[in-house]
Amino acid sequence: MKPHELVLPTVAALHPYEPGKPIEELQRELGIGEAIKLASNENPLGPSPLALAAMRQALDEANRYPDGSCWAAGRKVAERHNVAPERIFMAGGSVEVLNLLAFLFLRPGLNAVFSEHSFAIYALAAAAAGGEARAVPMKDGYYLDLDAIAEAIDANTRIVFLDNPTNPAGTIFRRAEWERLLARTPEHVVMVADEAYFEFVRDPDYPDSLAYHDERRMIVTMRTFSKIFGLAGVRAGYAVARPDLVSLLHNVRQPFNVTSIAQAGVIAGLDDREHMRRTLEVNAEGMAYLEREFRRLGLAYPKSHANFILVEVGDGAAVYQNLLRGGVIVRPMGGYGWPRHLRVSVGLPEENRRLIAALEKALGRAA
Ligand SMILES: Cc1ncc(COP(=O)(O)O)c(C=O)c1O
Repeated sequence: MKPHELVLPTVAALHPYEPGKPIEELQRELGIGEAIKLASNENPLGPSPLALAAMRQALDEANRYPDGSCWAAGRKVAERHNVAPERIFMAGGSVEVLNLLAFLFLRPGLNAVFSEHSFAIYALAAAAAGGEARAVPMKDGYYLDLDAIAEAIDANTRIVFLDNPTNPAGTIFRRAEWERLLARTPEHVVMVADEAYFEFVRDPDYPDSLAYHDERRMIVTMRTFSKIFGLAGVRAGYAVARPDLVSLLHNVRQPFNVTSIAQAGVIAGLDDREHMRRTLEVNAEGMAYLEREFRRLGLAYPKSHANFILVEVGDGAAVYQNLLRGGVIVRPMGGYGWPRHLRVSVGLPEENRRLIAALEKALGRAA
């Protein structure tokens, strides 16, 4: 008997999520000492220093299990959003929430609707739970088509996954489209607003999904500590939702899903206004620089509202390999259905400059 024959065919056919290439791996392969990684939308400044100090201290008690209820961190997040603590679900990264939602609400015969070219985990989580992953085409190349998503919802839809900003395109949908979708969404659908890059957005018409929660709708707002707080490596994120939905998430989570180190980092990191301010500043300057340089090189890109940017370079796989040889890791986009594009995370000024120099060389345009 083969184990593959014992699981759902949709699960047997899955391919694991392909993350950005780790720096150490490239350094090992090339035998070089100074590769840079602009591939996973991480915080180039490092972790929040306040979080780091708290996590170092928490290590002293690493022999103890974490607080499984995440009491203090959950309260702090609840205070930040001015909501009751029962509405907060703390998780080991927001990806955990996506998987738990799929596990709870999907099974064969039911479906999740989301946009094509959206965050890859939506399709994986839906298929892993045995559900149908229903991807809806984008509009105008790079934008979630919320009207088409509303059309795709049927009696068997249980989840709509929306990333806003969307990864990898970096574009956003605005308040009017979101309100139109909500008005058309039946009550049996869990509406997941994945706002991993929320803090980076400056657009005045960007909808904060938290403002739309009520007792009738099932909206799940997801945020993460992986981006603006610089804690991707310790895995911490959360969902805000109705208490009855949060209690279901607790029913199926691991007993200690957020490490004690992560909980300490979250509690201290939330107070680190200075780190957040600097992160936004570095990102805005880096984004402006990359846009300027892409324009100079004649490369097309959609306007990004996050800490990364999608750029059309021609043969994406070839340019990616070329950049790797120059010690620069970005993200090839073939797996996302964009073989002509690369996704570049905004780095420190010197990293951005190194990327542009390597890109110019890779494209054969060096002076
Ligand atoms: C849209 C989106 N959602 C969720 C995540 C995952 O975040 P976390 O590190 O909290 O699991 C990412 C990370 O790249 C993302 O781009």
